[in-house]
Amino acid sequence: MASERPPIAVIGTGYVGLVTAAGFAQLGSEVWCVDIDTDKIARLERGEVPIYEPGLAECVVANRERLHFSDQLAPALEHSRLLFVAVGTPPTYSGDADLSAVHAVVDAMPVSDHHALIMKSTVPVGTGEAIKRILAERGKTGFSYVSCPEFLKEGDALDDFLHPDRVVVGDDGDWAGDAVVELYAPLSAPIVRTDVASAEMIKLAANAFLATKISFINEIANVCEETGADVVEVARGMGLDHRIGQSFLKPGLGFGGSCFPKDVSALKQLAGNSGYHFQLLTAVIEVNELQKRRVVAKLQKHLGSLVGRKIALLGLAFKPHTDDMREASSLVLAARLQADGAKVYAYDPVAEEVARSLLVGVEFATDALEALTGVDACVVVTEWPEFTTLDWSEAQARMSGTLVVDGRNCLEPSSVTAAGLVYEGIGRGAPE
Ligand code: UDX
Repeated sequence: MASERPPIAVIGTGYVGLVTAAGFAQLGSEVWCVDIDTDKIARLERGEVPIYEPGLAECVVANRERLHFSDQLAPALEHSRLLFVAVGTPPTYSGDADLSAVHAVVDAMPVSDHHALIMKSTVPVGTGEAIKRILAERGKTGFSYVSCPEFLKEGDALDDFLHPDRVVVGDDGDWAGDAVVELYAPLSAPIVRTDVASAEMIKLAANAFLATKISFINEIANVCEETGADVVEVARGMGLDHRIGQSFLKPGLGFGGSCFPKDVSALKQLAGNSGYHFQLLTAVIEVNELQKRRVVAKLQKHLGSLVGRKIALLGLAFKPHTDDMREASSLVLAARLQADGAKVYAYDPVAEEVARSLLVGVEFATDALEALTGVDACVVVTEWPEFTTLDWSEAQARMSGTLVVDGRNCLEPSSVTAAGLVYEGIGRGAPE
């Protein structure tokens, strides 16, 4: 079985790259991984996985003989025709994607008549065309190009890789597109075979749509607070309409992470650069920014001035089951609370190490109850399961105040109020 699967190369061993590499190794391919970060390569060679993602370390270990790591491109070029590119494309100050890592990969390509670049990194529409032009200008016309965007979610990444809703393959109809389709065939997922620009747009539009759903339900939640409706009920009633669907209708402290904020801003910027003002996305971004700060008003409503108040943040990562702090709501919230004179305490089951360097002046606790000891109020920022099952009577005994702000609507309100605490959710009233 293993020998029938074509070998592949993966350039960039970050989130997307490592999951892609481990996933294809699991399916039986020899995978040649390349990264310029020599420390990371050394760790991976020792079998250490430098990111927290459930099941990934086990998958890397289980497929150890098929995974090869190097800081050099040569072995990858020698052993594989299909070169998956999974390098970072972080936002620049202007909101455009920074494509310098992608271009470094393109620059490093030799003249070849049997290789293909398969773009997994999220790039602006038109990037594929531009790369093909650059390759042609340098006499590297033998290179094929495929856009194959990645839709994996952190925390579920391997499962998303192995059970995708669809696989998008944008290409010029040559051997490389066929080879990528073939590579994904064992997953039995619908394949969307299209042109390169459309594939690039599918990725940006999908993320922008999901982010729009979140900002939409956040605004509905805010109106619910003014009108006495319960957004949890509203979302349930809306989501049962199959045209709407239940997912991504959870209100909270806004979306974060490495993709949504960056991709929404990149699509808005891309549209702007071509002369189109994408008004809807401007609102999606603004609603998301304001949503992170609304908690401060909730705290002030109960506590008055926050000067000298002690506030605990339960959860710091941008979502549960990850230690990823990129664009996490906790970053804005902690800084806002500190600016208002509060003392911030925090606990996260896995993100503490990453968070320590980002949250200056915040005091870290080793568990939730320790974080709650002596505080006037707490805010659930990330819906880690251990907060939903917290003993709120014990919490009440530890806290000096009584306010619990459930920033993700993940608690059972009655379990909080039954303990003698005051519950504030997002877009839902406290139980009678
Ligand atoms: C997202 C996309 O889901 C994925 O397809 C893409 O490849 C990368 O971006 P990810 O960033 O891992 O994945 O997280 P996701 O689970 O989608 O959540 C993103 C953010 O939205 C989180 O901050 C989450 O808390 C928030 N969110 C999500 C909500 O506030 N409400 C929801 O209903 C869903």
